[in-house]
Amino acid sequence: MSGKGIGFGKTILFGEHFVVYNLPSIASAIFTYTIAEVEEGTQGLELIDNRPAIEGYKTKKQGEIKRSLDLIMKYLNIDLEKTPLKITLSGQLKCASGIGASAALASSIARGLNEHFSLGLNDKEINEVAYEGEKGSAGNPSGIDNTCSTYGGFLTFEKGEIGEKNKIERIKVKEPIPIVLVSTGITQETKEIVADIKKLKNENPEKYEKMFTEYKEIFKQGLESLKNGDIKKLGELMNKNMDLLREMTLSCKEIEKIISIAKENEALGVKLTGTGRGGLVICLVPNEEIQFKVSKAIEQAGFEATKTMLK
Ligand code: MEV
Repeated sequence: MSGKGIGFGKTILFGEHFVVYNLPSIASAIFTYTIAEVEEGTQGLELIDNRPAIEGYKTKKQGEIKRSLDLIMKYLNIDLEKTPLKITLSGQLKCASGIGASAALASSIARGLNEHFSLGLNDKEINEVAYEGEKGSAGNPSGIDNTCSTYGGFLTFEKGEIGEKNKIERIKVKEPIPIVLVSTGITQETKEIVADIKKLKNENPEKYEKMFTEYKEIFKQGLESLKNGDIKKLGELMNKNMDLLREMTLSCKEIEKIISIAKENEALGVKLTGTGRGGLVICLVPNEEIQFKVSKAIEQAGFEATKTMLK
């Protein structure tokens, strides 16, 4: 027996970090994914990681990957002494912080294990397994990343209060939305950054409450613009979201450089996406011509840029 599963990458349009504090967010899966192939092994767990990745990513994430796998095996009651496994990871999703690579890993492995052991899990249950795996990398994650990885497409996500369910709404967009995703080349540990923001929030609760109020309005208008296909307004709101993320100390000089190049080249909205202080930047563009122009200028400045469509 062997099992195969996939997990999508993701990008957050609105609400990284805010989502940790039960505020709503908007994210989309991207159509590159990680593939996990699960087979019988010879002893314990053998992991072969053939995923493409930016330099230094895999070394930095080694501990997280191990924690993630341990949590998944424990959650599914898989005893590796009795049923040794070999898991091979591959796929086109290039691992970088901000792309949801750890969630794609967890979700693809959950699907692979489901098939290998004929567990009969549905998508909701796969997502629960993937969330367990995400705890290995994000500590107490909101669940947004694994939800995108498991379901694909656009969605709003709001983490439920303790004991309550997460609210997930799938969004239909009128037309595919062109973006450029840019890697700063810096890998961050989500868990550490989330903990740091929590500390800053505790030190200055009023400032954060004010930002949360501003953010809620951005989210509301952002959702409306997305549903109406008003890309120009969507871009303006993404820029406003970036202002708040900057205030939260989540930017860095590489992010700012990418933002200014993209704006000089007619991107409509540019913001960090995911963890921040490095990781990825999302540039919303009006059409394929500008998409090409933005990505070329960014590449000339020495960053890696990917052109893709969200739908
Ligand atoms: C990471 O992609 C998104 C964060 O909001 C963390 C989380 O939601 O768990 C930074």
